[in-house]
Amino acid sequence: MEHIDLIDEAKQAMATAYAPYSGFQVGAALLCADGTVYTGCNMENAAYSPTLCAERTAFAKAVSEGRRDFTAMAVCGGKNGVISGICTPCGVCRQVMAEFCREDFQILLVTPEGYEKRTLGQLLPESFLL
Ligand code: THU
Repeated sequence: MEHIDLIDEAKQAMATAYAPYSGFQVGAALLCADGTVYTGCNMENAAYSPTLCAERTAFAKAVSEGRRDFTAMAVCGGKNGVISGICTPCGVCRQVMAEFCREDFQILLVTPEGYEKRTLGQLLPESFLL
């Protein structure tokens, strides 16, 4: 799958974000080794702490469908769905990625013009694993 297609899926997922409290909409698209894609959006809550990030929504969908092998994830976000810069995964999402992905897992951070690439190893070096 082309990176541009994965980015397009993340943008479409961003449009479904449920973010009435922050107004910050996020979309993620997770590419599995078999080529399937699972998308996710952020899902906020009036009690705040149950809020789920877009990245973890996508991982929960994929893992609950039996997927375990992942190669890349595209992430985009912005106030009211307007992408003005990169939206980097929060620390909790990075730790969830580390549970299922190797350090060479590709993270595509969408920009207004295109995207920037990171590896999980760059975003979360020396992650905790049992
Ligand atoms: N959020 C994500 O969905 N992913 C990130 O990587 C960063 C933050 C969400 C959580 C919350 O709904 C909103 O963005 C503002 O923090």
